[in-house]
Amino acid sequence: MPDAPRVFVTRALPGGGAPDAPLARLRAAATVDLWEADTPPPAAALRARAAGCDGLLSMLTERIDAPLLDACPRLRAVSNLAVGYDNIDVAACTARGVAVTNTPGVLTDATADMTFALLLAAARRLPEGERAVRTGAWGPWHPTWLLGHAVTGATLGIVGPGRIGAAVARRARGFEMRVLYHGRHEAPGFPGARATLDGLLARSDYVSVHLPLTAETAGICDAAFFAKMQRHAIFVNTARGGVVDQPALARALRDGVIAGAAVDVTAPEPLPPDDPLLSAPHLVIAPHLGSATEETRTRMAQLAVDGLLAALAGRRPQHLVNPQALTAGCREVVG
Ligand code: GLV
Ligand code: GLV
Repeated sequence: MPDAPRVFVTRALPGGGAPDAPLARLRAAATVDLWEADTPPPAAALRARAAGCDGLLSMLTERIDAPLLDACPRLRAVSNLAVGYDNIDVAACTARGVAVTNTPGVLTDATADMTFALLLAAARRLPEGERAVRTGAWGPWHPTWLLGHAVTGATLGIVGPGRIGAAVARRARGFEMRVLYHGRHEAPGFPGARATLDGLLARSDYVSVHLPLTAETAGICDAAFFAKMQRHAIFVNTARGGVVDQPALARALRDGVIAGAAVDVTAPEPLPPDDPLLSAPHLVIAPHLGSATEETRTRMAQLAVDGLLAALAGRRPQHLVNPQALTAGCREVVG
């Protein structure tokens, strides 16, 4: 395909090898260079492989910043296989006329399911129980052993009432929970009552964060945040590790400021083995599995391919993060 756009794809895509599979559709319309390893391309390799490309299909593990963009003069589109795009310097992309697309919507339910899995696991101390069974610490049934906290009828506080927060709130209704939410703006139709952040933290038995990671949200779950929660309350994070001050969370767990936490995301990922979070008590931890179902990851890959192909064909992608890019740089195709 001499005139086909050239794209670099930074990991094998889910969805199999059928003709309508995401990667096959991309290969039908573009010359694809695929990073075959299961680990992310190091920055230098990313730069070298993306340098001559028109498009990039990236994962949340890749840093897309100004130096990379400057090394890729032909680049017109970056399609991120994620709803979050904190790994991308969007302003730098916009300034260079590079469209950025993401994959919202299709992972909402999978991530909300994972949030509830973690919430229940922490509330009912499931990993502790499993460890006890496997290590021989399971004695005869005892009325006060490994007691958790009720989920049914409890109060759930949702910080960040977006798509995923709303899906978590809908699940909470099935557990007859009272739902509070806190957001910068009123969220019309949100299945819960709006509260101030302090009010939410003071009243909730479970607090779940559903915020994108930005300069404003970085580290907002800090020592003061945990101190405002109830001592029996449990903190849940399926958003981004960076919204949490992790040493403060580890201390809050160790000092009994809160009863437990369940996190699917950390900073960095993976955590180094000596990270204080890993030795903190009452922490349920999962390796960033929020969207990790066959069905969801396949839909994400299809959307990521759709977004990349639309942008490269000069059409407006459905999930365009930076509409200004289309008018800002108006980058000429070189070569
Ligand atoms: C996953 O964390 C995503 O942002 O899609
Ligand atoms: C518990 O197993 C009960 O029967 O109450």
